[in-house]
Amino acid sequence: MTDSNKPINKLLTKAEKTEELKRKIAESELGGGQRRIDSQHKKGKLTARERIDMFLDPGTFEEIDRFVMHRTKDFGLDKEHYLGDGVVTGYGKVNGRLVYLYSQDFTVFGGSLSETHAEKICKIMDMAMKNGAPVVGLNDSGGARIQEGVNSLGGYADIFYRNTLASGVVPQISAIMGPCAGGAVYSPAITDFILMVENSSYMFVTGPNVVKTVTQETVTAEELGGASAHSTKSGVTHFSCANEIECLEHVKKILSYLPQNCEETAPVYPYESNGDESRPELEDLVPDNPNHPYDIREAISGIVDEDSFLEVHENYADNIVVGFARIAGRSIGVVGNQPQSMAGVLDNHASTKAARFVRTCDSYNVPLLVLVDVPGFLPGTDQEWNGIITNGAKLLFAFSEATVPRITVITRKAYGGAYDVMNSKHIGADLNYAWPTAEIAVMGAKGAAEIIFKKEISEAEDSAAKLDEKVDEYTAKFANPYRAAHRGYIDEVINPSETRSKLITAFEMLENKVDRIPRKKHGNIPL
Ligand code: HXC
Repeated sequence: MTDSNKPINKLLTKAEKTEELKRKIAESELGGGQRRIDSQHKKGKLTARERIDMFLDPGTFEEIDRFVMHRTKDFGLDKEHYLGDGVVTGYGKVNGRLVYLYSQDFTVFGGSLSETHAEKICKIMDMAMKNGAPVVGLNDSGGARIQEGVNSLGGYADIFYRNTLASGVVPQISAIMGPCAGGAVYSPAITDFILMVENSSYMFVTGPNVVKTVTQETVTAEELGGASAHSTKSGVTHFSCANEIECLEHVKKILSYLPQNCEETAPVYPYESNGDESRPELEDLVPDNPNHPYDIREAISGIVDEDSFLEVHENYADNIVVGFARIAGRSIGVVGNQPQSMAGVLDNHASTKAARFVRTCDSYNVPLLVLVDVPGFLPGTDQEWNGIITNGAKLLFAFSEATVPRITVITRKAYGGAYDVMNSKHIGADLNYAWPTAEIAVMGAKGAAEIIFKKEISEAEDSAAKLDEKVDEYTAKFANPYRAAHRGYIDEVINPSETRSKLITAFEMLENKVDRIPRKKHGNIPL
């Protein structure tokens, strides 16, 4: 606890003043004191400053507002001050690139947010906006500083407001490394990415006790809002990390695919081709039987630079796969239907997951690669009553308004409305390729034959044989890429093995693409 608020009753010599600064810096480094630091370590957690050390390039951290103290007088707080007031803020470098960051210090009033704590966060957010660099928040907080009441709530709202204004201007990333409860969850929720640490972080609007009182449900904090719940059930978190170090490494990785702000493009990594970009293994990926599954991740890894794929929302809505990758060193966002989960069908969760990712990429000038193998939208009351119309429209809207370079590869099925939605030529894609195995049609051959040849089939002596015959007829006519290619809806039918080399050339060709949507205040995406 600081004595910094005690009046200075004698004039200090220059040497004493230097000593005073040293002492105050040392005091601020200790946060809430050694006992609480030990307690943080006992919980298996790093302190706010240790996290910063792990995160930033060595020696690059410049702290701001180290000596800020709260102004509360109620409940004895006038006698309890800690330099920095529970959050360490400043700027530094990650892989040589500027970032602003705040790291909440749980050893000071449980990292709770006071008016001054909020002011510190707002200050670095304002600087990030003016100077065009990402903001990273390392969250570990008991929420509103209870002794402060509405001042703390005001502080939260000041942050939420800035999060919203910064959205789409500079990347914002929230790492949750401890509690994040109540309204506090809404700052991370507005940012571009959330990462949670397994077993030591949680997020919820109301905790287990309130849940018990209101709904009589008995649930632990981990079950209610731990990394597992939010990475698999709610989709609130984009990444679930085994520990704090993995979490910080993941934040760095995400930043590596993004530009500093919406006016720039992502850094290009050095890439040297060995002159052979063909990938023969892709020829065998799509099974002969169109109803057999395969892993779209194999297509992705066969197309992008080796080990460059960073999957986002890996355990949520796994019927669609999204993530960042590089192709010949350039950052791209990949969206691919996943045939090995629910045949790659689009449902509510898959649609919102992909729509959000597409918008994130478009916000930060990251080109899009879309791999299509989709049998359509999932039917049923569950889907309809939970808004598949609105949610599917989100994805349609997100693709349609994206002005970044957009390339589609149809590997197999592209049926019905889902064909239109999945970055078709009609909604502004720049180049649309199809593999020879592509089937671009209103629906699957069997369903189509059953409808259009219903009478013929039912009147036939052998209905099953007639159905097979009609399925074959429909398949021959429509279950291929050529109908679409005849009309120019597909620019080129390519062999799977040449996909990577085609895409390297195509993305390079689109590098200077300029496209604008009509002038407006903002679109009205169906939320
Ligand atoms: C002030 C707080 C605090 C808070 C914790 N502390 N939360 N001080 N305001 N919100 C202090 C404790 O008094 C304690 O001080 C130290 O932080 C560590 O807390 P412990 O309880 O000992 O730690 P632990 O057992 O790990 O439990 C952590 C916790 C618990 C689960 C976060 O402290 C807790 O439930 N806190 C209250 C959470 C809460 O209800 N917050 C308000 C939510 S509403 P000492 O001196 O002993 O070290 C909200 C609204 C936001 O946030 C709305 C925004 C729009």
